[in-house]
Amino acid sequence: MKRVFSGIKPTGHLTLGNYLGAMRRWAAVDQHQADALFCVVDLHALTVDHDPARVRRLSRQTATLLLAAGLDPELCTVFVQSHVDEHTRLSYVLECVATDGEMRRMIQYKEKAARERARGGSVRLSLLTYPVLMAADILAYGSDEVPVGDDQVQHVELTRDLAVRFNQRYGHTFVVPRATRPGVAARVMNLQDPTSKMGKSDDVGPGVVYLLDEPDVVRKKVMRAVTDSGQDVVYDRETQPGLANLLEILAACTGGEPEELSGAYASYGDLKKDTAEAVIETLRPLRERHRELCADPSYVEGVLAAGAGKARAMARPVVDAAYRAIGLLPPVVEPVLNAAR
Ligand code: AMP
Ligand code: TRP
Repeated sequence: MKRVFSGIKPTGHLTLGNYLGAMRRWAAVDQHQADALFCVVDLHALTVDHDPARVRRLSRQTATLLLAAGLDPELCTVFVQSHVDEHTRLSYVLECVATDGEMRRMIQYKEKAARERARGGSVRLSLLTYPVLMAADILAYGSDEVPVGDDQVQHVELTRDLAVRFNQRYGHTFVVPRATRPGVAARVMNLQDPTSKMGKSDDVGPGVVYLLDEPDVVRKKVMRAVTDSGQDVVYDRETQPGLANLLEILAACTGGEPEELSGAYASYGDLKKDTAEAVIETLRPLRERHRELCADPSYVEGVLAAGAGKARAMARPVVDAAYRAIGLLPPVVEPVLNAAR
């Protein structure tokens, strides 16, 4: 059976972009067709200014929302990255095959570093090395596929490069993974600024639909979405990004095609109304399940504890093999020492 791995950062409240671009597919497809692992990648949340208590709170909430979205611990492994040491163990070894030029070319690094500097802040070294840790997340499990939204494809390409390079230099150790993207909604855009991604770290949220937004709030945000000048409802990402975004969200929620749906609407208002209702209906079961899970936090804790145990057992032999391949002396195990005495 193929192995699938994906992760999500506890850096903010999860958004419709996270759901349509990633989580929904994890629950509907990946966990049924693969030996799948889904990870709350908390170490990645430390690459930018952070509040420790908030990261802890969001890690728990993210895990709860993954289960609310339909991930079933009977079918897949759900865990927290920092509970499994193999990620950081492998990350260092991969830093020894990655180059600094490669890291500096990552679009997300360039954007986030520029934003941080513009604010007068400093850029954490971990922001630069973050894609190597992500590569370690993926390679430690021998993953074949990595289901992600568009913004992560470059990082998965880098992961492939590192795996191939390591294998060529030190002998075959890693499976070379590939990114898989959703057909529609691979990049859900901000409703107030349809040229930028709907991101969960955005501080102000009028253009961001959060998974736990009340229906009324969702309705307001969608109805106030920025649309393009013009009268006709046409699907064109280049010239009509606001409309295209709404059509893609509607398509993703109803199972239609954005192009076809555009023909069914005579006015922007009707399109917004239907999109709002479709989003509310799509999120309804998730919100209900989330409420139930919040009433039983020990259930979520149990899932995470079992998940970490399973994940550790899978990653350990792969990371040990990488340590041996790159030239690290294996530790002598106790029974051998005792026998020699
Ligand atoms: P992150 O929130 O950056 O940890 O992302 C977790 C997953 O959600 C990744 O697979 C992202 O590619 C995906 N994702 C995040 N935001 C969006 C978006 N606006 N549209 C589509 N996918 C997204
Ligand atoms: N970098 C990803 C993001 O920002 C999150 C992530 C970390 C991830 N490790 C991963 C995604 C491994 C897929 C596989 O969304």
